[in-house]
Amino acid sequence: MSDERDMTGSDDVTETGDAANAMWGGRFAAGPSAIMREINASIPFDKALWRQDIAASKAHVAMLGAQGIVTPDDAAVISNGLDAVAAEYARDGVPEDWDREDIHMTTEARLAELIGPVAGRLHTARSRNDQVATDFRLWVRDALDQMDAGLAGLQRALVTRAGEHAASIMPGFTHLQTAQPVTLGHHLMAYVEMFRRDRSRLADARARMNESPLGSAALAGTGFPIDRDATAAALGFDRPTANSLDAVSDRDFALDFLYACSATALHLSRLAEELILWASQPFGFIRLPDSLSTGSSIMPQKKNPDAAELVRGHSGRVIGALTSLMITMKGLPLAYSKDMQDDKPPVFEAASLMGLSIAAMTGMIADATFNTGRMRAAAELGYATATDLADWLVRQAGIPFREAHHITGAAVKLAESRGIALDALPLADLQGIDARIDQSVYAALSVDASVAARASYGGTAPGQVRLQVAGARRMLGMEE
Ligand code: ARG
Repeated sequence: MSDERDMTGSDDVTETGDAANAMWGGRFAAGPSAIMREINASIPFDKALWRQDIAASKAHVAMLGAQGIVTPDDAAVISNGLDAVAAEYARDGVPEDWDREDIHMTTEARLAELIGPVAGRLHTARSRNDQVATDFRLWVRDALDQMDAGLAGLQRALVTRAGEHAASIMPGFTHLQTAQPVTLGHHLMAYVEMFRRDRSRLADARARMNESPLGSAALAGTGFPIDRDATAAALGFDRPTANSLDAVSDRDFALDFLYACSATALHLSRLAEELILWASQPFGFIRLPDSLSTGSSIMPQKKNPDAAELVRGHSGRVIGALTSLMITMKGLPLAYSKDMQDDKPPVFEAASLMGLSIAAMTGMIADATFNTGRMRAAAELGYATATDLADWLVRQAGIPFREAHHITGAAVKLAESRGIALDALPLADLQGIDARIDQSVYAALSVDASVAARASYGGTAPGQVRLQVAGARRMLGMEE
């Protein structure tokens, strides 16, 4: 039977044969060539590059015309034809024909249908290798700019809320145990710092990637008298890349972007985790906006922080995208290999997840309701001012810090056994622990006194937080 012959390999299936192969071609009526077409096709995802592909082709053909490599008339016909293709894409979307493989061949084939054989002159002095490297850089550069704008918006939301809560007291944690009182504004401003570093990573990546691979051709450059400075300038690049082999095989720009995304996703995930904790009933520190929460289909009392959970979850996918592309690239010899076609899905996915995560986080921060009474009560009951008692013993009674630490421990133990705050202990009880304590200690034991005392640069005192907020508002171009 023919199936058996296929399975023993005696019935050789040729490259273009259209008989289904019983071993591995079962799902295709058309045989291995159909599998080749499908595995080869990147058009289902790289159609997202169409705007960049048209822009790079227009820059290229204008240069070919200016250099006399094609006639000015042909260059004009091609350029207008590219505009017509772009108009079709904008109106109808990019057609997905696997036989046209990718966005570059799709555009060129459609151009030929519209303007005839002159379309064939567009590909003079270039290759899909420098073309895709150029298109993809342009795409990543745009994505990076959008992400930066999104992060600026998130920072503005955080700074606004931090300004409102420069003096709102909450427990500060280490090991997720109440440590010292801090201000909510200080806590929120910590994330403004993280996103500031993320934005500086984006700026670094942008400066590094802003070189034009166009004109590197397949791998070795070209014999045509091209002007790489002209195409670089036309596409907003700072300069052409310096080595054609590197230019067509380099995806560092995508990796830099994915690393910047990953670092940002990590920060978003930490903030999301805090919102999830704070919104839980035992904490009760915040109410997330209804518009960014969901209900439970079975438990009517529930309001779930799904958006925050998904921001936390998406960070895994974003970090996975970085890992994916690093592993794709790590074994590739120079120059281009088809493996590199797999560079796009992780970058596209990461960029879209980042856009959504940043938008969701901005909405949650802007519209969350902070239960400041509950936060303050938690700070008061967590013995968060124990360090202040120890500091007071050092400063006012001249006791060595280690001994002061010990005395304070005894005071906390006593207060805890009675279920009361430290500053609710009567003076007689405090003096029973150490006779050097006097009435003035109470001024140091309130949570307000505690945060007010931490006025060192970058500290949690409301005055310091207001300085941080003012500096951030200037940096972000917010009105004073
Ligand atoms: N679709 C390809 C990619 O994204 C374009 C480059 C193809 N070059 C080649 N020599 N087959 O990588």
